[in-house]
Amino acid sequence: MDTSAFFATKASEQLIPAPMRIVDTDGAFTFGSDTGIVYQSGLASEARIAAADLATALGYASPLPVVERTHLRGSDTARIIIRLVPAWDDGHGAEAYLIETTTDAIVIEAMAPDGIWHGLQTIRQLILVSGASIPCFSCIDSPRFAWRGFMLDCSRHFFSVEFIKKMIDAASLHHLNRFHWHLVDDQGWRLPVPEYPRLTEIGAYRTDLRQSWDNTYGDFYRAEQIQEIVRYADERHVMVVPEIETPGHASALLAAYPELGCTGGPYQVEDRWGIFDDVMCVGNDKVLDVLDAVFRTTAQLFPGPYIHIGGDECPKVRWKECPKCNKRLLENHLATFDELQSWMTVQVVKLIQKYGRRAIGWDEVLEGTETLGLPKDVIVMSWRGLEGGIKASSMGHEVIMCPTTGGCYLDHKHLDDIDEPGNISVATVGDSYEADPIAPGMDETQARMVIGGQGNLWTEKVCFAKHAEYMFFPRLAALAEGLWTPRENKDFASFSRRIPALHRRLDALGFSYYKGALS
Ligand code: ACM
Ligand code: ZN
Repeated sequence: MDTSAFFATKASEQLIPAPMRIVDTDGAFTFGSDTGIVYQSGLASEARIAAADLATALGYASPLPVVERTHLRGSDTARIIIRLVPAWDDGHGAEAYLIETTTDAIVIEAMAPDGIWHGLQTIRQLILVSGASIPCFSCIDSPRFAWRGFMLDCSRHFFSVEFIKKMIDAASLHHLNRFHWHLVDDQGWRLPVPEYPRLTEIGAYRTDLRQSWDNTYGDFYRAEQIQEIVRYADERHVMVVPEIETPGHASALLAAYPELGCTGGPYQVEDRWGIFDDVMCVGNDKVLDVLDAVFRTTAQLFPGPYIHIGGDECPKVRWKECPKCNKRLLENHLATFDELQSWMTVQVVKLIQKYGRRAIGWDEVLEGTETLGLPKDVIVMSWRGLEGGIKASSMGHEVIMCPTTGGCYLDHKHLDDIDEPGNISVATVGDSYEADPIAPGMDETQARMVIGGQGNLWTEKVCFAKHAEYMFFPRLAALAEGLWTPRENKDFASFSRRIPALHRRLDALGFSYYKGALS
């Protein structure tokens, strides 16, 4: 790649996601040894973190100086000024920001620290491409959707705290703001719950039957590590959303506490991929007692307002044969076993509400709701297609779109090529770019219920962080543009021209990424 070309490029030709409005202006702002961040009170955290991150991007050994000022001084030359301002335009929220750069100052203004942070990431993107001399520009920027996320499955394979932080940082650089952490599944339980220690003593480890050496695989996140990740994400304006799968994908839980299954076991932490018939016994009150403790711990470790309760791919085979499950169905006057899952969803949602949180469920939570309905505050994550999101939005539920059919499943191959790594299907960079959370045919009322979307990385076939990075990028950047940039500004040809700038940034941050055809 001809790297010198970037020094001549304009800011508008580098940034992903494309800002709402940007005007390239003449000249460049050049960082020098005395360039510091001048901040207003209330922005100390943003100034401190950005001072370190921008210095790293510039190759400096120590952070940029930070200075708190209530009034700017004439001597504040060669500076980045960040400050909060009253609302300048209706319709822009906390994440919106303005930037004005000249040859001797970069001024970032926003209504709230969120917006200041996004503005600082825009500057960081330019430094990572252009180095110490970044092209001058003015911009007004504001996200299209509130929920802009990525999901990482840490059950099928375990990923280090360092890698998770690296991903949170890269997501934040692209103005993403949600990390959906898939913490438990059939193949491993990764969350320590003090009252039920076997969840991690047993549930975090599986026997890899494909090899005869070193064949125990697993680990879990210690409470302090979880708190460290949550704090790291919070400092970068990313909310961590933990997922605890219920009532299916429960092999690891059942291996730890076999009495929670319909047959009583024995069970094993699964070594195979897929969907398994042994799920939580919803006729057993002890299951809800254990989940109560699990969600209490989850709420203690994760301060954010949301907990994902899973709900997907739950076979009913065992329930149909189980006296306790049949009793529960009859007692509650339910007609089908789908309705029994709906009963369970309602109980789990009550636990989430008890801890002051809102539940998110995969789109199966819409099934079997004829008798009991779905509690109104449940957010539906539409994954099997757009249909779940269309139905949920018409029922008045908030919706997060991440259809496996629509470029949001990043475990799929980048290309239909036998030599390309990936799972089952294909999602090109173009598919991810074209993913639109507003489904065709949605009316205004439905569209208002769509709070955003995300890219999901399932890791059955992704054993290592370097491979995960390759699956995420550049598709996560493509999704980020779809979730942030106004629809009318979206242009795949323009995005493709900005790919070399993305490559430079990812190189600077030490990422592996896919470099092939985009569509
Ligand atoms: C899912 O992909 N089973 C949510
Ligand atoms: Zn049962």
